[in-house]
Amino acid sequence: MILRRAPFAGSAVSSILSGLKLDRLIAKHRSAGRSAAHRMIAASRVRLDGVIVRDSKTDVDRFMSVELDGETVQQGTRALHIMVNKPVGVLSATADAVHRTVIDLIDHPDKATLHIAGRLDRGTSGLVLLTNDGRWSKRITDPGAKVPKVYQVETSEPISPDAVGHFLRGFHFQTENIHTLPAQLEITGERSARLTLHEGRYHQVKRMFHRVGNRVVMLHRESIGCITLAADFTPGQWRDLSQAELDSFR
Ligand code: URA
Repeated sequence: MILRRAPFAGSAVSSILSGLKLDRLIAKHRSAGRSAAHRMIAASRVRLDGVIVRDSKTDVDRFMSVELDGETVQQGTRALHIMVNKPVGVLSATADAVHRTVIDLIDHPDKATLHIAGRLDRGTSGLVLLTNDGRWSKRITDPGAKVPKVYQVETSEPISPDAVGHFLRGFHFQTENIHTLPAQLEITGERSARLTLHEGRYHQVKRMFHRVGNRVVMLHRESIGCITLAADFTPGQWRDLSQAELDSFR
C-alpha cells in the first residue's frame, strides 16, 4: 500500500520547509545518479519518518528519518523547542567560563545542540526560547516578522505620561542608524510599565528609557508572541513547548 505523507504527521518535526530534495539524498547515499534514485523512490522503497513517499522532489530536512529498503539513510535529529524562565544573573549564552548560562538550567541529553532565539541581558529575567531548529528561531528573531515581546519594567524615576507618545513614535539609534518601530507603553504605576516591542535591538528597553530621561532598574520579559510565562513557572524552570505554541509562529 502506498501511504501519502500528511504534513507534520508522525514526528515532532516542526520545520518542513525547503531543504535537500529526497532524490538527491538517496543518490548520494547509494553513490548513484538522480534517475536511479528517482526509480528507487517511485518503487516505494523509501520511507520518510516511517511513511512511504514516492515523490522524488519531497524536501528533506535534518529532523526527518529516511530509510531505503529498511536501511537507515538518515537518522533524523530530534527537533527541540524549549522555554526557560531565566533568573537574574544567568547569562543568555550557550557557554561561559564564569557565569551560569541558560543551557546550564536545562537537563536534556541534546542540550548542546541548542541556540537562543532572542537574548536577555544578565540582569534581565524572564522568557527565553531555545531550539536546535534554525528556521523556527528565524521566524521569531527576524525583524520582518515583528513578533511582539512584552516586558515588565520598573524605573528609577516616575514615568511621564509623555513617554507613551515617544515610545510610539520611536527613537533614532545612532549606532545602528535605525528608527525603532512603534512600541506600546502602558504605564501601570508611578515607576512601572508594561512595554511591547516588535523587534529586539541591543539593550533596547534600557536605551529607550534613557532617551526619556529615566533608568530601568528591573526588567522582566513575560511573553514572546503567544508564548507566555505562567505565574507558577518559577525562575530557573524549563519545559518543552507544546505543538500549539510551536505552530503559533507559523
Ligand atoms: N532590552 C534591554 O535593555 N535588555 C534586555 O535584556 C532586553 C531588552
